Amino acid sequence: MGRTGRLNNTISHYVKGVAMLVMSVATLIACSTDDDIVIKDQYGNVAAAEQLSAGTATVFNIGNSAYDTPAAWVTGDLLTRFYAGDRLYDNNRGTEGGKGPVFAGSSCGSCHNNAGRTLPSIYTRDSGSGAAGFSSQLVYITRQNGTHFRQYGRVLHDQSIVGVAAEGKLHAYFTEQEFQFPDGERYVLQTPHYEISEWYADSIDPKDLIVDVHIPLRHVGMGQIMALDPDELRRLAVQSNYPEYGISGRLSLINERNRQYVGVGGNKAHHADLTVELGFSSDLGVKNDRYPYEVSEGQSQMLGYSHYGMEITTREMEDVDLYMSALGVPARRNVNDAKVKRGEENFYKAKCQLCHTPTLHTRQDAPVLLNGTRLPWLTNQTIHPYSDFLLHDMGAGLDNHVRAGSAYSYEWRTTPLWGVGLQQTVNGHTRFLHDGRARNFVEAIMWHDGEGAVSRELFKRMGKEDRDAVVAFLNSL
Ligand code: HEC
Ligand code: HEC
Repeated sequence: MGRTGRLNNTISHYVKGVAMLVMSVATLIACSTDDDIVIKDQYGNVAAAEQLSAGTATVFNIGNSAYDTPAAWVTGDLLTRFYAGDRLYDNNRGTEGGKGPVFAGSSCGSCHNNAGRTLPSIYTRDSGSGAAGFSSQLVYITRQNGTHFRQYGRVLHDQSIVGVAAEGKLHAYFTEQEFQFPDGERYVLQTPHYEISEWYADSIDPKDLIVDVHIPLRHVGMGQIMALDPDELRRLAVQSNYPEYGISGRLSLINERNRQYVGVGGNKAHHADLTVELGFSSDLGVKNDRYPYEVSEGQSQMLGYSHYGMEITTREMEDVDLYMSALGVPARRNVNDAKVKRGEENFYKAKCQLCHTPTLHTRQDAPVLLNGTRLPWLTNQTIHPYSDFLLHDMGAGLDNHVRAGSAYSYEWRTTPLWGVGLQQTVNGHTRFLHDGRARNFVEAIMWHDGEGAVSRELFKRMGKEDRDAVVAFLNSL
């Protein structure tokens, strides 16, 4: 929510004595090797290379706005627009702002609190059936044959403005299974099951219904993700084939607006952009130039309602695009701690890095935002996202029975792990995986199956201290 303002992460450019902030694109490229640039942490000490999660966009904020701090290059007019975007993102939209008639959240920030992952209300209780109020999740509903229900779109809008019925309400319950590590330590895996009540229209045959619930993603490094080099990902997709470990990542190719893109966003890598227009339209019910119709278009209860029009301008949406693209990426912490070092070694021993790729690079051409603003600062950076942004078969346990983009139901994009260790500080919980079923890092790892099975087994066979060290390493990201 960006209210605490910027941190004083100082970037000094020793070679030419020129501040990064005023460097032209040409200078930036010429000086873009890591050796040329010295970045200082919040205490004024020179940061170690492995701390710099996103090169010059690394920020040294370890508080609850760690995901919500502008990168150092965001100054002047850009900073003004960053905060304008932040407000559009966070402020609850009223009906005068076009929200509704049905919607899933009142602002982007209601689900992505502090640019992170709001704890879904179904998980605020330890077990039993979940709440039927605002959920902060996206509830995808699909028919068994892959199409959608008449009177409903692909997302269940469980909220509505006065005088209109919400499309339905989500309930969840959990089944538990207990397991043991070879050393005797127990762990319990929870599987969520969902039901929907209070359908506003046609009652739906539960046997025909697939409910697929996702918790929000953190916004860490969104600008860098959009600036990824598609050619590097293409090469990675070819190289990332390890028959000895059963791992083979697959590039997500999506066709949109008469072009083919490499999908990098979303849990199925099914988005090529920051989905700002889609978010306003489908999540908030705010019509815009890309989606000028209400999501409730065609619903029987909406007869007589004005469906067409614009409720937010492209210029405003570009500010939101800028806000997300310009967020800094938290620096790694405790990189010299002995336990963290041991955990890092174990991360490699367990082959986690074959999917959670530690290092990638951003491309040479500047990302262009919705209304044409170019962001040259995001180019040519060495970044540490801990993801290959490829699709992997994660086994039957995580299969959601729905295809998205080019991803099969059992395939998921490797979740980038940068900033993951700060989720507790930023959002107050440690729910992980696409639907939040894992309550901590150990459960998240023990859910890895399919291509992730070898990693899970290697982790499982480690002693308690080594498993704890892996967790300490994840907490340092
Ligand atoms: C009702 C909750 C909700 C609201 C409101 C919401 N989101 Fe999301 N958002 C999600 C969920 C859930 C996902 C994960 C979807 C998936 O599994 O791919 C997500 C994913 C995203 C992603 C992809 C992140 C990544 O790492 O690839 C972006 C970007 C995003 N949202 C932006 C927005 C913006 C901008 C708005 C406001 C216009 C918004 N969201 C409103 C729940 C929400
Ligand atoms: C075959 C590729 C692959 C390997 C190997 C792998 N992962 Fe993952 N990891 C994934 C994918 C894909 C997801 C997303 C799954 C989902 O959300 O359902 C994920 C999710 C995670 C998450 C949850 C992140 C979040 O924010 O929700 C953590 C933590 C994690 N992995 C850690 C590890 C560790 C530690 C190892 C090694 C022991 C490992 N992974 C090995 C592909 C892999």
